[in-house]
Amino acid sequence: MSAILPPSERIWWNQPIDKLEFTWIAIALVWSLAMFVMMIWWHIYGNQNLANETYKTTKEMYAAKAQAVVDQYTVRTGTEAEKQFPIVKPPAGSDIYMIGRLWDWWPIYELEQGKTYKLHLSAMDYMHGFSLQPQNINIQVHPNYDHVIKITPNQAGVYSIVCNEYCGIGHHTMVGRMYVTKGGE
Ligand code: CUA
Repeated sequence: MSAILPPSERIWWNQPIDKLEFTWIAIALVWSLAMFVMMIWWHIYGNQNLANETYKTTKEMYAAKAQAVVDQYTVRTGTEAEKQFPIVKPPAGSDIYMIGRLWDWWPIYELEQGKTYKLHLSAMDYMHGFSLQPQNINIQVHPNYDHVIKITPNQAGVYSIVCNEYCGIGHHTMVGRMYVTKGGE
């Protein structure tokens, strides 16, 4: 039988399924169910899926929240290499707000290893990409939306933030950082 010509038997759906075709249907069904279960399993037990939430906000409202956290928990002013940004050390468990804009990630947070924080992300102008290494977080950040991720940094050191969505002439300079310290430091 050809796939181009009409079937020779017009009532083709009454013909028995060929064993080979039935086998492939069964394999496809089992495989699709396995992948479906895998999606749920990986979301819970895998280390790569972000369970992020997104809320509508405005640039002004978001910026005010970020400023409030910075005002409350800034411990020092950054060096030249730190763009003289505020170095902010909020208590474990708190909501921390990061702003993406042409072409910075602001401010610089100092977090404690093994502690969980609620990281909020939003952009002040265009869409940016937030990539945090070595935590392996990669998320698109839009203006007027508050993206929330729970993060628990599992190793101490300097984390790098890179914008990975093209955002204009200074895109390649849009980098930031985050410090993670061992508890008690
Ligand atoms: Cu911001 Cu590219």
